[in-house]
Amino acid sequence: MSVYTLALESSCDETSAAVLKDGRTVLSNVISSQVPIHRKFGGVVPEIASRHHIEQVIPVIDQALEDANVKLEDIDHIGVTYGPGLVGALLVGVAAAKGLSFATGIPLVPVHHMEGHIFANFLANPTLEPPFLSLVVSGGHTMLVHVKDYEEFQILGQTRDDAAGEAFDKIARVMGFPYPGGPHIDALAKEGNPNAIEFPKALSEPGNFEFSFSGLKSAVLNYLNSKSQKGEDIHQADVAASFQKAIVDVLVDKTKDAAHTLGETNITIAGGVSANQGLQVALEAMCKEEGFTYYKPGKILSTDNAAMIGCRAYYMAQAGKFCDLHLNAKPSVPIGTVAWVEGK
Ligand code: KG4
Ligand code: ZN
Repeated sequence: MSVYTLALESSCDETSAAVLKDGRTVLSNVISSQVPIHRKFGGVVPEIASRHHIEQVIPVIDQALEDANVKLEDIDHIGVTYGPGLVGALLVGVAAAKGLSFATGIPLVPVHHMEGHIFANFLANPTLEPPFLSLVVSGGHTMLVHVKDYEEFQILGQTRDDAAGEAFDKIARVMGFPYPGGPHIDALAKEGNPNAIEFPKALSEPGNFEFSFSGLKSAVLNYLNSKSQKGEDIHQADVAASFQKAIVDVLVDKTKDAAHTLGETNITIAGGVSANQGLQVALEAMCKEEGFTYYKPGKILSTDNAAMIGCRAYYMAQAGKFCDLHLNAKPSVPIGTVAWVEGK
């Protein structure tokens, strides 16, 4: 008999609900984005995000069930993102999932948002199985994770300061682009010379799997300020291309180094920044050169969505990892945390 998962995601500025069959078949994936609402503020305003999640959460659940042609009573478990993310935003999804679980008796599965991002790869690549190395790059996180098994993750290194997406968004904002800026830098970079300006690449020594992008961010800001103080022209496309290259080089080099260290030949990418064309081209080229197999989740599954949460929830349910109604939103929580014990 098939297993049906209902999943909810509300950690940032997307309210999303999805229905999955047997963990890997997406029957529906409804995403209500608030990006246009937050754009005029230059970033996500947490209070506004929470209010919109409240308005959207029930309609997206109804739509996801309708699109999947599945009734609530057919659902075997409800997966919900409980962290990390904006606490007020997370609380909306968690409260909705708990309410549904309480009313129907359907078991609840507490999903870590970044584990969800990694599991998006299972949806896009039906033959993919652990173990593999995952480069996780989003607006809030940058890390290299060794996915040893469906339930075993080892973080090799993460960012000490800004996440890659955060750096993209901050530089884009200074250059006059609306939120989220990553895709704008990506597009502009295609028209520029990536070798025009040499920006710093931090922690680039072999064997170091940590990241730091704050120095790069300051270097770009200093470059832009000094050019404008001197009244010199700024070639925006060259700045975008050179900045993007500095980030991409670090991400690709560390991924290659980590894969060799682990003896891992399957590489996946996860998180919103994985949509970056420059990064995709460079990673693909590196994997080809090194004889690695490269898997990517594709555009819809790489940014925030509930289908990836549903995939993670399915495997957790298989492993018996349910939680009770004590589940709470956790704005900051490491990958691999055992929320179902903590909640009790
Ligand atoms: O994973 P995600 O949807 O949300 C978080 O969990 O953070 O990632 C959003 C981030 C934003 O910082 C956005 O600018 C970045 O992903 N992003 C990109 C691109 N598309 C989205 N960054 C660079 N190039 C892109 N094409
Ligand atoms: Zn995300």
